[in-house]
Amino acid sequence: MTVLVTGASGFLGGALTQALVIRGEDVRILARRTSDLCHLENIPIDIAYGDLDDKASLTLAVQGVRVVYHCAGLATDWAPWEAFYQTNVGGVQNLLGAIEEVGGVQRFLHISTSDVYGYPREACDESHPITNVGLPYNRSKCLGEQAVWNWYRKTGIPTTVIRPVSIYGPRGKDFVTEIADLLLKKQMVLIDGGECPAGLLYVDNAVEGIIQAAESPQTVGQAYNLRDETNETWGEYIEALARGLGTDAPWIKLPGMLALGLAAISEAVYSVLHVRSQPLLTRHAVYILIRDQGYLIGKAQRDFGFRSIVTFAEGVERSLAWFRSEAGRSAVPGD
Ligand SMILES: NC(=O)c1ccc[n+]([C@@H]2O[C@H](COP(=O)([O-])OP(=O)(O)OC[C@H]3O[C@@H](n4cnc5c(N)ncnc54)[C@H](OP(=O)(O)O)[C@@H]3O)[C@@H](O)[C@H]2O)c1
Repeated sequence: MTVLVTGASGFLGGALTQALVIRGEDVRILARRTSDLCHLENIPIDIAYGDLDDKASLTLAVQGVRVVYHCAGLATDWAPWEAFYQTNVGGVQNLLGAIEEVGGVQRFLHISTSDVYGYPREACDESHPITNVGLPYNRSKCLGEQAVWNWYRKTGIPTTVIRPVSIYGPRGKDFVTEIADLLLKKQMVLIDGGECPAGLLYVDNAVEGIIQAAESPQTVGQAYNLRDETNETWGEYIEALARGLGTDAPWIKLPGMLALGLAAISEAVYSVLHVRSQPLLTRHAVYILIRDQGYLIGKAQRDFGFRSIVTFAEGVERSLAWFRSEAGRSAVPGD
């Protein structure tokens, strides 16, 4: 029987698809007609063309499927609320409805995020309540995860939620191409001296953890934080990327509270003027850079033996090697 991966054209879903195929799984992906699938060329997968907005396409995509890995989502810090809601809440509900209607799915893996904790001052474990602080990504992922739990209680379909922290590696957007781009343009900002733990999770370690969680009976009905065990700071990560890219470490340095104030003002100005591009600072990004991202991972280590096999040095090296590849050069052309 088949496993279905949503979001396979994206960063996490793409790496997960490749790993599942290597393990010999029969993989189907949900992809839009517009999705870029270059990284999956020559990989034996079945493509179900569709959209999280299109219920009929989801009904077809889940036919004959045993495990669903739901990686698709709107993962950005700047978009209209309607877009966040449509994908991260409505899209989740549509997928859950299709799984329930068709029947046969034995495991559902939902990719949530540690942002659902609402950026607490101290990094927490999974017992911390889901906290909507009103920022659109956080709010939409809270509502999406709550929809998953309500559905699980109603249907009893074995479900596990993974809350990754800051995923990095080849093809990564938020913590890889965006930071590299800003570094090369000399626009990267170092906040609070870069001393805050970043909660980095190398993408292959994320994939390994997600598959382990899906295969463990103990994880049913549970949520798990996921990050690498070493937990470097933002400063260590950003400086390692800058060194590898042959550019300078950030020269713009801001205290956290000032950065938060500037982000709030930038967001307000961009909203009033209907500017479509993203401000240099958003409150979402600043919270991630100033609030401890070292969310506790003891539960994942205990319940499914999570380990980060790829080290920080190796993860950064693989990311830098990707920047030097053709795909990496077109994602981050530099100046
Ligand atoms: N990256 C991180 O650090 C991180 C951390 C914690 C949690 N997460 C969560 O992990 C998941 C994957 O993140 P990512 O970084 O891999 O994001 P990504 O690279 O932006 O990929 C998003 C994927 O979702 C698909 N998608 C979006 N809207 C869709 C729709 N309406 N119908 C079908 N597919 C749709 C995209 O397809 P197209 O290619 O067609 O646009 C793409 O394949 C997200 O749920 C995110 O919230 C990510």
